[in-house]
Amino acid sequence: MPYFSNFSLKDYNTFGIDVKAQKFISVATLSQLKEVLKENKNIFLLGGGSNMLLTKDIYKTVVHVNLHGVIVNNETDTHVEVTAMAGENWHEFVLWCIDQNYGGIENLSLIPGNVGTCPIQNIGAYGFEVKDTIISLEALNIETLEIEKFTNEECEFGYRNSIFKNKVKGKYIITNVTFKLTTKDHQTNTSYGAIQEELKDISNPTIKDISNAIIAIRNSKLPNPKEIGNSGSFFKNPVITIELFDRLKTKYSTIPSYPVSDTTVKVPAGWLIEKAGFKGKSFGNAGVHNKQALVLVNYGNATGKEVHDIAKKIQRKIKADFDISLEIEVNVY
Ligand code: EPU
Repeated sequence: MPYFSNFSLKDYNTFGIDVKAQKFISVATLSQLKEVLKENKNIFLLGGGSNMLLTKDIYKTVVHVNLHGVIVNNETDTHVEVTAMAGENWHEFVLWCIDQNYGGIENLSLIPGNVGTCPIQNIGAYGFEVKDTIISLEALNIETLEIEKFTNEECEFGYRNSIFKNKVKGKYIITNVTFKLTTKDHQTNTSYGAIQEELKDISNPTIKDISNAIIAIRNSKLPNPKEIGNSGSFFKNPVITIELFDRLKTKYSTIPSYPVSDTTVKVPAGWLIEKAGFKGKSFGNAGVHNKQALVLVNYGNATGKEVHDIAKKIQRKIKADFDISLEIEVNVY
């Protein structure tokens, strides 16, 4: 197997952090993957590298999951099942589906990352979560080296959450994901304000129109990781009690909220961080994006620790100002 040693991961994480892997290998087939797992017990998995902040060198074998391919199964009058391999780039897969007129994931256009990692944090945007299209997935059990199937239910999806972040964390490598998509009568969701605004001159938007609108919105707010290193939303939007929300509302009358349950609401972390004065601020080589305060950025040569320190500073201030504990959404290593 062609291993690299002392290998820079700068091009393998969207934050663009320059840490080294003691050993690195990119695997393109399932049998290679099994071989690597037999040869190495101490592994670190890497997909698109879009949801992680690396703060130190990795003294393990970093395994880059580079499995490719897309298969179309059971096509009916109205639906199709599409299985994509884990290493497929998520956005390219979305665009490919739109080109085939397969609807369902257009709202998730331009999200960084790979197909194999989209279920782990149940990626979501613009009123839509990927769990709503996933039928099942296959994952390699790292212990037994057997492929196991997980149905949608077995994935225990939640807001930016799944079983792969909890009960079975670190125990599986997702190898492919099967989606159920529409081939006609697409159930589009354009309820999100900014999408309506973007589509106001189009009467019957197609899935391609929606995708284009979302690409335009994301490009206007979110930094392109190829230009400025980042990992999308760095924190989760916190869910707080109605009591706390009512208390905050008397002080901050414009605080936005989304209903969650009878006793709780979700508030946008981006709003809290902006209100706390961090938006657009830089601290050395890293900072808080000037158009979306939920996104931390690497201006070029930041270390992961610098970014992590900013995150901790933000968490402390948000706790002090609003009595809210912000939870980091990206994986910090
Ligand atoms: N807001 C501010 N200041 C900011 C940013 C946001 O006041 O700097 C306010 C906005 O005015 C709005 C509210 O916060 O009232 C929500 O903002 P936005 O619509 O930008 O969405 P978000 O809640 O900040 C979430 C996802 C994003 C996703 C967008 C759009 C999470 C953690 N983030 O952000 O996902 O693209 O909604 O649906 O749920 C990601 O996970 O990497 C990601 C980018």
